[in-house]
Amino acid sequence: MTNKKNKYHKPVLLQESLENLNIKPNGYYVDCTLGEGGHSIEILKKLHKEGSLLSIDRDQDAIDFVKNNYKEEIEKHKNWKIKKANFKNINEILDKKVDGILMDLGLSSRQLEASKRGFSYLEGSQDLDMRMDEELSAKAIDILNFYDEKTLAKIFKEFGEERNAKRIAKFIKENIGEIKTVQDLNNVISRAVPAAFADKHKHPSRRVFQALRIAVNDELGNLREGLENSFNVLKKDGRIVVISFHSLEDRIVKKFFKEKGEKSEIIVPTEEEIKENPRSRSAKMRVLIKKN
Ligand SMILES: C[S@@+](CC[C@H](N)C(=O)[O-])C[C@H]1O[C@@H](n2cnc3c(N)ncnc32)[C@H](O)[C@@H]1O
Repeated sequence: MTNKKNKYHKPVLLQESLENLNIKPNGYYVDCTLGEGGHSIEILKKLHKEGSLLSIDRDQDAIDFVKNNYKEEIEKHKNWKIKKANFKNINEILDKKVDGILMDLGLSSRQLEASKRGFSYLEGSQDLDMRMDEELSAKAIDILNFYDEKTLAKIFKEFGEERNAKRIAKFIKENIGEIKTVQDLNNVISRAVPAAFADKHKHPSRRVFQALRIAVNDELGNLREGLENSFNVLKKDGRIVVISFHSLEDRIVKKFFKEKGEKSEIIVPTEEEIKENPRSRSAKMRVLIKKN
């Protein structure tokens, strides 16, 4: 299986994911976050014919990308199924219990850099969409338009841990008429953030974009539900491996594992991986083994 063209995304903590899933060649595994297929394809390599892998993603574009780029592998491995689904409903799409579940949270580099959905504050000309699943009804721009100032401030504070949440929400509502694209929002945010607070090393829009994306896609709600439902479909001794990219996600994973009686160690990328793939810098992996 060779490296595919048009790949944006380097799988994060790849070897660590495979090791911690403890893959049995005849086991049944679910990759909840297919993305560009980086983890899935390596899981598949470890399975015999009797083993199987279900890979899901809520983004149709990710599904299409993998189906187009891995035609040969899909043809060859009848035990690899790919399906568009939200992992919060994992219990509804499985007909039997599984040995291992992987969640590699957040966005793929492809979504950030090539989806033209305005996920990144660096893509100035794009519309403020931010839906991972294009069937969702509300885009980021709808949230800015229809939520009141107080609710926006709450979103920026809770989902972005933004210190200037109130001031940014106020500026956005006062200037809503001029906000259509990513750059329009960037402009308003930089006017709102007082110079004294601005972190010179970080983009002033970073936290607001994270917050909007989390709100549009209900990322934290999906994670809570997805973990609970994953636990219920796991066999005894089965494993859930979660890679998160910010503290809001990691807190949910840590709390959930603790409730289930697991003390989870954190696994982080090596310096070498971070050098090769700077996007992996904030990654944290936790592993749960179901005891009963
Ligand atoms: C970081 S990427 C995964 C990258 C993948 N492991 C790889 O190596 O190519 C995360 C993916 O998860 C998907 N995703 C996020 N939340 C989801 C959810 N609730 N259900 C299903 N897919 C989700 C995103 O659409 C995105 O494609």
